[in-house]
Amino acid sequence: MRAFVGWFLALSVALGLSAYLARAITVGDRRLFLPGDTSSGHHQIEERCELCHSESFSDRETIQASCVDCHATELDEVDDSHPRSKFTDPRNSDRVAILDARYCVTCHREHAPDATGAMGLTLPEDYCFHCHQDVGEERETHVGLPFDGCAASGCHNFHDNRSLYEDFLTRHGNDGDLLEAFRFAVLPSGERTLEALGIARMDAPNGSRWRPSARELSIWSNAIHARGGVNCSGCHAPTDRGEWSLGVPVAVCGECHEPQRAGFAASRHGMRWVAELDAMRPSRARLAMRETAPDGGLDCVSCHGEHVFDLAYAATEACLGCHSDEHSVAFEASPHARFEPAPGTSPEAVEKTGTDRITCATCHLPRVVGPGGRAYVEHNQNHNLRPNEKMIRDVCMDCHGLSFSIDALADRELIRRNFDRSPELHVPSIDWALGRVAPDSNSARRKDRED
Ligand code: HEC
Ligand code: HEC
Ligand code: HEC
Ligand code: HEC
Ligand code: HEC
Ligand code: HEC
Ligand code: HEC
Ligand code: HEC
Ligand code: HEC
Ligand code: HEC
Repeated sequence: MRAFVGWFLALSVALGLSAYLARAITVGDRRLFLPGDTSSGHHQIEERCELCHSESFSDRETIQASCVDCHATELDEVDDSHPRSKFTDPRNSDRVAILDARYCVTCHREHAPDATGAMGLTLPEDYCFHCHQDVGEERETHVGLPFDGCAASGCHNFHDNRSLYEDFLTRHGNDGDLLEAFRFAVLPSGERTLEALGIARMDAPNGSRWRPSARELSIWSNAIHARGGVNCSGCHAPTDRGEWSLGVPVAVCGECHEPQRAGFAASRHGMRWVAELDAMRPSRARLAMRETAPDGGLDCVSCHGEHVFDLAYAATEACLGCHSDEHSVAFEASPHARFEPAPGTSPEAVEKTGTDRITCATCHLPRVVGPGGRAYVEHNQNHNLRPNEKMIRDVCMDCHGLSFSIDALADRELIRRNFDRSPELHVPSIDWALGRVAPDSNSARRKDRED
């Protein structure tokens, strides 16, 4: 608490905002001290200033540590092409003198809406120039290319180049579509039975037997949890507390569904929950939401319903109950939504999940194979969202060729229309890669990196 009071005072003096101080303390809203709107990535957690700032709010090292704390794993996983270690290497000190890439805030400042572009970038788009002026001399294909296009036309990213590095392009450049042969990753069936979880109680809070209504019982007994051997108390009275409660918080679902809880916690949907703020509500969103969107707070039930847990519903209808931006609304008329797979496509998947369709979740909550070879649903819908080439390997390439996928994702208008036609752009980097005869000597190293 004392830290906060000190912080408030320092800030109010610094900014000459003492007139606001009393009000800020009364209403408890420190957002009054924000120098400008927070970027779209962080606006949902902006009221907890201390997630990024120390008492001395412009202290770079604290800010840096906070960025690393929340994002290091993600950048490691994508095999960051420009990790900090590149810039602490003395051989690159001349470049660092021009653009200090050791610090995240060199490129990602905050509360500076006028300077902020996609993905929180606060530099002009031609910034690659500062370190790679000579690329035009080294590569014939690159002579005379404008520097503001390096990362804006589907060719390169600064951090995540897993679908864009040369050897990957060479290996997959000639792959065709697999539209008739695609298979959905099959979700595993129940291993956590009632017995295994040691759940057998059905007691109500006052010690009497809980009496479900006929409707509740019938919904529940048809539902997957009954089949998996989880009874009422498995959710309404988890073992460690044993008390009945009608509300079932995320943490309780997470006791049995850890990968899904972890994905939710890392996602935009779960970021307020994990920051211990009150729940994420459509009414607080910057993205377009339906007026009728349920505003009770986003949790597992928002998509899964209370007792039904119908995956096909969760995968499209639930989303459209809230999202109403042009891209989302355009989905239902798109070729993806209308497509019916050929008879015989992975019948196990159809039987197990009821989703043999291409849905919002196919792209945004894809089925991935985790440790031990088990398929599960990646619940972090930001995991592959931006830069959107992240979707290529885990999603598009299940069905489309690499070149088609890169072109489609570089076409912003096509994304807005939710992929209702072929791409109208062509990204030439694959042609360049295929045109270079021998794969370069780094090819083996890079191949290893792919996995
Ligand atoms: C997600 C991280 C994050 C959160 C949360 C956050 N900030 Fe910031 N803030 C930053 C970053 C990054 C900068 C830029 C620092 C730089 O340019 O060196 C910044 C800059 C500032 C500055 C200008 C500092 C200067 O030296 O010019 C102020 C004032 C500020 N923040 C206030 C706030 C307040 C008040 C809150 C809470 C209501 C808040 N911030 C929440 C990340 C955050
Ligand atoms: C030299 C500029 C630069 C620096 C330094 C930098 N970034 Fe980025 N960052 C970008 C650009 C540009 C993007 C847009 C996507 C791309 O090109 O990779 C981006 C995108 C991101 C994204 C979106 C997801 C992704 O995989 O791309 C995250 C998260 C991110 N940066 C975090 C960080 C963190 C944390 C640091 C510090 C450890 C950092 N960045 C340092 C330029 C930079
Ligand atoms: C408390 C955890 C937390 C802290 C601290 C934090 N971030 Fe984030 N950041 C998130 C979450 C959650 C998102 C939204 C989900 C996503 O895009 O992955 C996000 C989004 C972003 C994005 C936008 C990605 C996009 O898709 O548009 C960038 C860039 C980014 N953060 C960089 C930074 C930098 C740089 C810092 C330090 C100044 C920082 N973050 C501090 C949690 C954090
Ligand atoms: C602050 C300096 C800096 C900036 C800004 C920068 N780079 Fe780099 N980049 C490096 C360094 C250092 C290397 C390591 C290889 C080298 O020395 O050339 C590198 C390597 C690369 C590589 C080879 C990657 C690999 O995995 O082998 C590519 C491609 C690349 N950068 C593209 C870009 C693009 C595109 C941008 C702009 C979006 C950019 N860089 C911005 C410093 C920078
Ligand atoms: C006591 C453990 C337990 C709790 C608590 C629990 N579940 Fe489950 N859940 C299971 C089991 C067991 C299965 C069946 C697994 C299987 O067949 O793969 C399952 C399956 C599911 C499925 C898959 C449905 C399908 O068609 O494959 C969803 C979705 C689900 N749970 C969501 C939730 C949500 C949301 C909560 C919290 C409201 C929750 N679960 C709480 C144990 C639990
Ligand atoms: C997989 C977890 C799960 C199981 C098993 C489960 N429930 Fe629920 N139940 C929920 C969730 C989630 C809610 C909604 C809670 C919320 O909104 O916070 C709920 C809500 C309820 C409500 C309140 C409904 C309302 O309209 O207010 C009742 C009553 C209820 N459950 C009874 C039962 C009974 C009886 C059983 C066993 C036949 C059962 N539940 C089994 C997860 C479960
Ligand atoms: C944004 C909507 C959304 C939210 C929020 C959500 N889920 Fe899901 N979940 C889905 C979708 C969609 C699927 C099925 C995707 C498919 O069938 O391809 C799914 C599948 C599942 C499955 C079965 C597949 C698997 O991964 O084994 C479980 C279990 C599950 N969710 C648990 C949870 C839990 C626990 C939470 C809360 C921490 C949660 N979900 C929150 C949309 C959501
Ligand atoms: C209860 C309402 C609700 C439901 C249901 C829901 N969302 Fe969201 N979603 C939100 C809110 C609120 C945000 C945060 C928007 C903001 O901060 O502007 C969000 C954010 C997102 C984002 C991140 C956007 C970004 O720019 O970072 C994606 C992608 C997304 N949702 C997709 C889905 C999908 C796919 C489903 C269904 C599987 C779904 N949502 C279900 C309310 C919902
Ligand atoms: C074929 C893949 C695909 C399908 C299907 C799909 N999306 Fe997307 N979605 C994308 C891509 C790609 C982006 C753009 C990411 C970027 O570059 O910013 C996106 C962006 C979004 C965003 C963020 C919009 C913004 O302005 O930040 C939301 C929300 C979203 N999608 C929701 C949905 C919903 C809801 C559905 C189903 C009704 C759906 N999407 C279907 C691929 C898909
Ligand atoms: C599960 C398989 C599957 C996945 C995953 C998938 N698609 Fe598709 N896609 C299809 C099918 C099937 C069609 C319809 C083909 C037809 O109607 O002939 C299609 C059609 C399209 C079209 C319209 C083509 C046209 O000429 O009308 C575009 C663009 C597209 N997909 C882009 C993407 C992108 C980008 C991704 C990844 C973000 C993606 N798709 C993921 C199967 C998939």
